Amino acid sequence: MEFPLEMHKASIIKKLELKPIDERLRAIKVAGNNTFMLSSRDVFLDMLTDSGTNATSNRQLAAMLTADEAYSGSESFFRLEAVLQKVFRKKFFLPAHQGRACEHILSRVLIKPGDIVPTNYHFTTTRAHIRLQGGDFLELFIDEAMKINSNHPFKGNIDIDKLKQAFKDHKGKIPFVRLEAGTNLIGGQPLSLENIRQTAELCRGHGVPLMMDASLLQDNLYFIKTREEAYKDKSILEICNEIADMIDIIYFSARKFGAARGGGICLSDERLAGQIRELIPLFEGFITYGGMSSMELEAIAVGAEETMDFDNISQGPRFIKFMVDELVKAGVPVVTPAGGLGVHLDARSFLPHVRPQEFQAASLASALYIISGIRGMERGTMAEDRNPDGAEHIANLELVRLAMPRRVFTISHLKFAIDRIIWLWQNKELIGGLKWHSEPKMLRFFFGELDTVSDWQERLVEKFEKEGYNTL
Ligand code: F0G
Repeated sequence: MEFPLEMHKASIIKKLELKPIDERLRAIKVAGNNTFMLSSRDVFLDMLTDSGTNATSNRQLAAMLTADEAYSGSESFFRLEAVLQKVFRKKFFLPAHQGRACEHILSRVLIKPGDIVPTNYHFTTTRAHIRLQGGDFLELFIDEAMKINSNHPFKGNIDIDKLKQAFKDHKGKIPFVRLEAGTNLIGGQPLSLENIRQTAELCRGHGVPLMMDASLLQDNLYFIKTREEAYKDKSILEICNEIADMIDIIYFSARKFGAARGGGICLSDERLAGQIRELIPLFEGFITYGGMSSMELEAIAVGAEETMDFDNISQGPRFIKFMVDELVKAGVPVVTPAGGLGVHLDARSFLPHVRPQEFQAASLASALYIISGIRGMERGTMAEDRNPDGAEHIANLELVRLAMPRRVFTISHLKFAIDRIIWLWQNKELIGGLKWHSEPKMLRFFFGELDTVSDWQERLVEKFEKEGYNTL
């Protein structure tokens, strides 16, 4: 048998509850068919996100108890600073309470109206902050990135030729280039170290700083070691250092990187660090805590160290691959190759009979919750903003993300998820679409509420119960 083996054991557990299907149906209706709006007490397997939900290690917990809660000059801060200097090798570490807080501050300092930021792919909060300052993203993903099924090992790469062209077309308007390692919205797909090197050389040639969003870097480090021949014998720390040396500004959400909750910006440019430093106390908190408790500073320090341990970071990608492989065997449309972050169902191929304007991914996420108690996340049209003319902007990819918080689930949880997804695939024609009930102006996926276009959910429940699944 081929299956992933965990190199850790559980010592603290949390009891789960699987509510009956009629309660789940009621809960998703109250939530406006938006999985963000569900209460976690109604959720069996929470695959909404890996953000702040990764399991804590015993070493993290032990370090948290040694935290020095001081408003300024906390020892915990200096411990974290030292670890980050070892990992990212930058002179300055400026803390912020989470990833989007880093994006807010960096955008304030670096973006002017009319600026264009080339990137391999946008992330929702990053784009919102850049737009808030009057700039915008230019997405330069490779063609392969938009193919649901591929065997390209690095679908997250930036297209180097397009980047060369962008430097010509937008001369003087590019404040920095942003690489997201690995890409959240195209299925946790990584970029190669070679691609980072080529990007860094181009940026240096044009005198433009290179920024990395390292929130999902840990999975990307795993993929560089396991998929990029030249790095198979290097340690994770060596790979991380080699990447960091090519990047000018690194920021991260420690809700992902470091398996804790928090964030920060690492850079060596003294002038820029000075500008950022002025904004931290205004928006986050004093510069030795940045809105985080010292316990979190300690947890991130240990978490970042543990991220350099190959065994430790292998669990996520290997669990994801196990689930992807099983779904592929059953013919379920899922993004391949397996990436980091989670399993991504292709709602467009799953529900071709639902119109794109009726939110295929949100419909699939809602149906999956009803029949399994699993909470996934819509990553499609609902997560886009409308076009300037008011029309729905149909997303490039219409995905349901089933995130894999690290070291949280077991293989039996995954088997349950696989079983329910296959049932849904076999009964897909019962799933219908959704329409707006209440639509926010921006980041619509957080609070937007949707109604069903018919009674398809009741019919889905009826079939499920008829087949004898009603006890679970
Ligand atoms: N960058 C990336 C690549 C992210 O995935 C996230 C968060 C952020 C920045 C923002 O960080 O949440 O700490 O403010 N992604 C979460 C997710 C929300 O569920 O994928 P944050």
